[in-house]
Amino acid sequence: MPRMRGGVFEKPQGPSARFCLNGLLFGDQARGGHDTHPDPALLPFDWAGVFGRRAPLALEIGFNRGRFLRALAERFPERDHVGIEIRRRYPWVLAHTLAEAGPENVRIIWGDGKALLPSLFGEGSVSHLYINFPDPWWKSRHAKRRLVDSTFAARTHELLAPEGRVWVKSDVPAIAEEIQAALETTPLRGPIPFEEADLPLTHRERRCLQQGLPITRYAFEKPA
Ligand SMILES: C[S@@+](CC[C@H](N)C(=O)[O-])C[C@H]1O[C@@H](n2cnc3c(N)ncnc32)[C@H](O)[C@@H]1O
Repeated sequence: MPRMRGGVFEKPQGPSARFCLNGLLFGDQARGGHDTHPDPALLPFDWAGVFGRRAPLALEIGFNRGRFLRALAERFPERDHVGIEIRRRYPWVLAHTLAEAGPENVRIIWGDGKALLPSLFGEGSVSHLYINFPDPWWKSRHAKRRLVDSTFAARTHELLAPEGRVWVKSDVPAIAEEIQAALETTPLRGPIPFEEADLPLTHRERRCLQQGLPITRYAFEKPA
């Protein structure tokens, strides 16, 4: 198996294919990324079938190397965790790590979180949604790629379970403010500040802490 910095980079197959859902959703582990949508015959998607149990579902969009996602799943074994990442190398590497070292309560998708949200997650089906250091997309022509806008915020409100939370971390004050403004257009309650120790650290967060950069952390909650 080809080993690169950070793990094995190879199309998930054998034991690792179980952790990466692209084969199931799109018919091939090598299909994913932008503009890839699940087979309509699979919808509404049966998450309990995938995990083999009915448990609260947590979702991270943009998991990158997956350090946070794995630590989160270890911290909350009673929940099931789904990660969506747009860049192929990260899910491919993480699928092998999960097959080798777990934890078992994680599944990942190489895809666009923004596009997959409406089809894969039904109303009230997600207990926790994590948005960690989303790309700022500085150039104005790329602004439409930003993850959280008012449409995404409305969708977040819909998919969260009562008392469910969306958790946001960012080192870019303008992005933290923009996300907060989008979430404030919904009936979600917040912002509720939280501390560094309340959640595992992400890769980007570690670097910010080493460099002494300020980090904004808040959550919004769906009223019961
Ligand atoms: C700045 S990095 C932060 C990574 C990680 N969350 C952390 O805190 O270390 C943003 C990540 O989000 C991913 N990403 C950006 N847009 C995405 C989208 N629409 N769907 C899924 N992942 C996305 C990027 O590929 C990248 O891995």
